[in-house]
Amino acid sequence: MAKVVVTRKIPGNGVRMLRDAGFEVAVSPHDRVLERGELLNFIQGADGVLCMLTDKVDEEFINAVGPNLKIVANFAVGTDNFNLPALLSHNVQATNTPDVLTEAVAEHAFALIMAITRRIAEADKLARSGFPPAFGPEVLLGMELKGKTLGVLGLGRIGSRVAEIGKSMGMDVIYYDIKQNADFEAKVGAVFKSTPEDLLKEADVVSVHVPLLDSTRHLINTDRLKMMKPTAYLVNTSRGPVVDEVALVEALKNGTIKGAGLDVFENEPNHAPGLDELTNVVMTPHIASATIEARSAMGELAAKNIIAVLSGQPPLTPVKV
Ligand code: DGY
Repeated sequence: MAKVVVTRKIPGNGVRMLRDAGFEVAVSPHDRVLERGELLNFIQGADGVLCMLTDKVDEEFINAVGPNLKIVANFAVGTDNFNLPALLSHNVQATNTPDVLTEAVAEHAFALIMAITRRIAEADKLARSGFPPAFGPEVLLGMELKGKTLGVLGLGRIGSRVAEIGKSMGMDVIYYDIKQNADFEAKVGAVFKSTPEDLLKEADVVSVHVPLLDSTRHLINTDRLKMMKPTAYLVNTSRGPVVDEVALVEALKNGTIKGAGLDVFENEPNHAPGLDELTNVVMTPHIASATIEARSAMGELAAKNIIAVLSGQPPLTPVKV
């Protein structure tokens, strides 16, 4: 009987689907990230591993599983935790979970955009404090989105959906991507900017939706933060290292930009020194895809990929190297 290891408890029917398919399934008994040693021990002897983005899948991981390994299915769309050449060289299939989390992440990007521009976290704190009285003409003034410019960095599935939501709220939408998308421009009325710099100079809200690659690490750095308007907001739901977090703290402190909404951090679960003390940032702990719908579908898609590969079929959502 083929063995499948699931490195953390997941919602939905994914585990049941794997058991119904006749596999021996071991699910981590801990609702936390496994320590490296625990992980390497737990995955031994598996034919397939359903893993988290917090699990580093490298040569050591592949060797720890052993020669039966045929598939590593990431419970995430991002695959920066995968050493893809190593998986390829061991003939191990890599899969991810695109599409099923697009709506959840795009909606969360907008939740952060609205939370930071309307100062929801500060307002919540103030409301609970009993001060000030119910209404004050100048209390916690924020920024309206209608008529403002939304800059979408990275026009993949999630960036495209964020652009659509922005448009539906009356925002002007500009985008930067390595590829121009004329069809999308015609459909949504978004305007292409040929460099990230052009976008950063113009946008009132910048929402980041690029994968973490060597070319996107610290894409948002001190110099690029300085190009943004002092009234502008930065929102990141992609990967933490895309933003130089130390530079961002400085920019938020100095008023280089107005505020930020962050779901991802450079060294999760830690934050750069000073970030937690700032009131002009709203933060969530990497929960952008955390809806019942998305997380259940992610588990089920990962399970389908494992079932396909262990039955000799091609996976539904392979990661291309
Ligand atoms: C992903 O899937 O890559 C997200 O960051 C986690 O949901």
